[in-house]
Amino acid sequence: MESLGVLITYPLFPYLEQELLRRGCHLLRLYHSPETNHLAFLRANASSIRAVVCDTHVGADAAMIDALPGLEIVSTFSVGVDKVDLVKCKERGVRVTNTPDVLTDDVADLAIGLAIAVLRKLPAADRFVRKGAWKTGGYPLTTKFSGKRVGILGLGRIGLAIAQRAEAFNCPISYHSRSRKPHPNYKYYPSPLDLASNCDILVVSCALTDETRLIINRAVIDALGPQGVLINIGRGHHVDESELVSALVEGRLGGAGLDVFENEPDIPEELFQLDNVVMTPHVGSDTVETSMAMADLVIANLEAHVIGRPLLTPVV
Ligand code: DGY
Repeated sequence: MESLGVLITYPLFPYLEQELLRRGCHLLRLYHSPETNHLAFLRANASSIRAVVCDTHVGADAAMIDALPGLEIVSTFSVGVDKVDLVKCKERGVRVTNTPDVLTDDVADLAIGLAIAVLRKLPAADRFVRKGAWKTGGYPLTTKFSGKRVGILGLGRIGLAIAQRAEAFNCPISYHSRSRKPHPNYKYYPSPLDLASNCDILVVSCALTDETRLIINRAVIDALGPQGVLINIGRGHHVDESELVSALVEGRLGGAGLDVFENEPDIPEELFQLDNVVMTPHVGSDTVETSMAMADLVIANLEAHVIGRPLLTPVV
């Protein structure tokens, strides 16, 4: 990859940049220039840029792709490709790769972790211990996770891994996906509303597309109800966040475990007061092990592109 010009859109896992540099890539760091100057930066460096490495913070939108006439490949350090303009890439013949599979375990682990953390109120229990409240009384009873009906929205790789984990907790599994899957033990519901009406914990694990944007609306939230819990490890835009906040504040929804938000990193402040809400800062795949595997996959895709071999994980 000697002297391949790679635009890095956001400060990524340092190992990835180090490995690209070690292979002789010429890195152009968009994040070193203020957002208002991004277009000017792209135009000034357009002649050197053949590849974009991006992530869920800053992807590759139409304006970026248009500004880079020499662009050949976009390799996103994420499984989600919602921040990459796939239509524009197709039009321009720009190839796109992502990082599926290697992050499945971590994201599924986090979904289960969030569900247990919400039901057993783990962060609030931790705060209780730290502030010394245990000395003056016991912690209030919480809610059992094992055996709860788990509904999964999107039974792809990650959804399936969540289902398999939840099965080990004796949770009956149901799901809604674009199509029925060959898993006879899991009950299929033809709509998100039916799914929400028939589960205790609803996990959003589908890709963000035009069809799934705002798939969790007021009706779905109300169907889940005051004993129900929403877990979102998908994207913030899957959920009507203002409806979610009012349902939680009004007690129409039992709780939520959220790794993703509509306007990350800006979070509705009402959520900060609620012990039945557990939040993490979009860290589904953020372990050292998985980040290294994702970085290796990004690099392997770029190398395959450069030497004319088939891409390992092509999207477009
Ligand atoms: C991804 O890689 O798209 C996910 O957001 C990981 O959490």
